[in-house]
Amino acid sequence: MDENRVINLKKRIMKNVSVLLKGLSVVICLIALSSFVSAQDQKAAAAWKISAEFTAKKNPAKGDAASVNVGKNLYAKHCKSCHGGAGLGDGPKASSMKTKISSFKDAKFQAQVDGAIYYEIVKGRDEMPAFDKKVAEEDDRWALVNFVRSLK
Ligand code: HEC
Repeated sequence: MDENRVINLKKRIMKNVSVLLKGLSVVICLIALSSFVSAQDQKAAAAWKISAEFTAKKNPAKGDAASVNVGKNLYAKHCKSCHGGAGLGDGPKASSMKTKISSFKDAKFQAQVDGAIYYEIVKGRDEMPAFDKKVAEEDDRWALVNFVRSLK
């Protein structure tokens, strides 16, 4: 190979590397931007509308320690991935939700009657799944209510 060809080859390699680096930095910028946008984009949850049929429901195991314990296990299985271990709304799936998950420790959440929390769990709405089928037993539903209540 004569010297000119070596120089040309070097130039071509340099050019390809620089194109590659430019492409890579564009991709990295896009990823950073999209994660920023999705974190900023979460909307606050609107208040739930609960019918009187549900707000009037009586909790058959209010504050019962055994029920709270049953709820704790169901929570770990069905709820933790979104709501987080301590119910702060920071589970691994929380950041991919369009709606910000509020904390079960919030006074506003805890101010709801048990029947309203029961409704939210059983009926769900939008990104909050309805657990009427996965948690079919009445006792288990109230156990979940009692557990999230205990997180305050
Ligand atoms: C796929 C993620 C996901 C899972 C799993 C999930 N939730 Fe939710 N949950 C949400 C989101 C998102 C909201 C807020 C939705 C809204 O307000 O429209 C929510 C809202 C709620 C609310 C209403 C909160 C309030 O401020 O009044 C309760 C109660 C609740 N979830 C309980 C549970 C329980 C109990 C489980 C398990 C049986 C569970 N969730 C499983 C995503 C989830």
